[in-house]
Amino acid sequence: MEIINRKQRIASISRKLRRESRTVGFVPTMGALHEGHIALVKKARQMSDVVIVSIFVNPAQFGPNEDFDRYPRDLTADAALLAEYEVDYVFVPETEEIYGPGFSTYVYVEGLTETLEGASRPGHFRGVATIVTILFNTVRPDLAFFGSKDAQQVGVIKRLTRDLGFDTEIVVVPTVREESGLALSSRNSLLSPEDRSKAAIIYAALVAAKTAFKNGERNASELAQIVEDKLRSEPAATIDYIAVVNNDDLEPVEKIDDREVLIAVAVRFGSVRLIDNIILNRKQ
Ligand code: PAF
Repeated sequence: MEIINRKQRIASISRKLRRESRTVGFVPTMGALHEGHIALVKKARQMSDVVIVSIFVNPAQFGPNEDFDRYPRDLTADAALLAEYEVDYVFVPETEEIYGPGFSTYVYVEGLTETLEGASRPGHFRGVATIVTILFNTVRPDLAFFGSKDAQQVGVIKRLTRDLGFDTEIVVVPTVREESGLALSSRNSLLSPEDRSKAAIIYAALVAAKTAFKNGERNASELAQIVEDKLRSEPAATIDYIAVVNNDDLEPVEKIDDREVLIAVAVRFGSVRLIDNIILNRKQ
């Protein structure tokens, strides 16, 4: 496994691989890797000849009062883990390698980015869309792998891939959960042990709504109420949002028909903000 810091070097490796008709699978990450990332790497390993992982804590996707400075970073542990899973290249650029002097070009995906996470975290998706565009442009992967915990991010990346004409297939991998149901996230390591066990309420609330749906409830506001009641039963949880939206365009729904619907939540435990979601009417 080779660790690379320069854009030019990873771009030239990738060009060579394309010339040799070897498929490149790409897993972009911000490090602090956990089993959720490993699920992406394993899928990439299965589906591609060569696996490239990037590790870059992207300042452009954090707001001024967000957790950029305390976002967990451990390159040594990350590299050891990736070597175990037979990753070929790890791209770890410095901030200046990506955002050089005078950098002033950003990618903005209209519409999709204005609700949910976009409404709570202004500028977040501009940062995500910009870094993903830069990484795709550099690596030119055949396949890129993202987790479905970040459902809105997946929608934004699929849209920019289509709109900007990248020849990259976006592969979405199911959320990996702790035994308690808590979705794996690098931010879980910032939770106190008590909050970490209390945060299992998030998935329990989503499952309660899904169970009501399976039992015939089709009213979106009733399902949102079920999620809210469950979350409010845990005093340590502060709700940021609960949304019941169409899974394709993220528009709110009132009555659920046979289209895929996403129930998405953001919940704070102390200063740690967690997101999760569940899909109703999942079509595979
Ligand atoms: O999901 C993440 O870890 C980040 O948003 C991503 C896609 C690596 C862009 O920085």
